[in-house]
Amino acid sequence: MENATPRRVEHQQTDRGYVPVYATGVVEQPWDSYSVTDHEVWNTLYRRQRELLPGRACAEFLEGVERFGMGENGIPKFADLNALLGKTTGWQIVAVEGLLPDEVFFDHLANRRFPVSWWIRKPDQLDYLSEPDLFHDLFGHVPLLLNPVFADYMQAYGRGGMKAFGIGPGALMNLTRLYWYTVEFGLINTPDGLRIYGAGIVSSKGESIYCLDSAAPNRIGFGLERVMNTRYRIDTYQQTYFVIDSFEQLFDATRPDFTPIYQRLAAKTPHAAGDVLESDRVFNVGTREGWATNADT
Ligand SMILES: [Fe+2]
Repeated sequence: MENATPRRVEHQQTDRGYVPVYATGVVEQPWDSYSVTDHEVWNTLYRRQRELLPGRACAEFLEGVERFGMGENGIPKFADLNALLGKTTGWQIVAVEGLLPDEVFFDHLANRRFPVSWWIRKPDQLDYLSEPDLFHDLFGHVPLLLNPVFADYMQAYGRGGMKAFGIGPGALMNLTRLYWYTVEFGLINTPDGLRIYGAGIVSSKGESIYCLDSAAPNRIGFGLERVMNTRYRIDTYQQTYFVIDSFEQLFDATRPDFTPIYQRLAAKTPHAAGDVLESDRVFNVGTREGWATNADT
């Protein structure tokens, strides 16, 4: 399924608000068609994060960036990254036009393919974009795919997604929250202190600082059912970050069949994004400063 001239598929303004538009196909990365500006956007974003992340991002992430040879030499070619990725963990990057429908996304992950939007944000969108572009997908997600345990977790997540898709919307929501609070916004506890591994954080300058330095958010030990039953913020920085001890812990926690968990959670009211529970393993309770009070997702 190849497309000679890929389109950029973006959210659209409709009478229901600004809504995601889902594309389904895999395309060839149109590397020759990137403009000088596109490459400069990559270089600027890369430089900012590369200066900020040592001492903030986990060692496995930083090591992945180095091993791929990502740098300030413009947008990487997926084919070059795939050569290393393929022989290391067997994953491949595939270029896509934009957000994928759930079942298409899960099928890619279950087959060790990671979809990356081929287009990059504009220079006036360096700090905020409402949908994933190449910088988020590639710089944020791909370095950790060189880590064998994390690589297996991502595949297991895709398989779990296929299964949840067959069970129903409640199960899918539980699983989406797991992805959100781990793959996108996860922190990991290390002997040197808390570090970032979530792609939504490492690809954001503001949240890379906020998630570790701000007193406002809660930082709470990861628990599978706790996370699956917690709503989240899509329009602000997170009110709670969940902290894993290791990628092995994450992979092991998600090994069992989730079906009984979905059944249990269906009978429960989800926690608000900022709730702190009696049963939580608390790293710190946030001051709640600057929190939005409108509903969580
Ligand atoms: Fe993402």
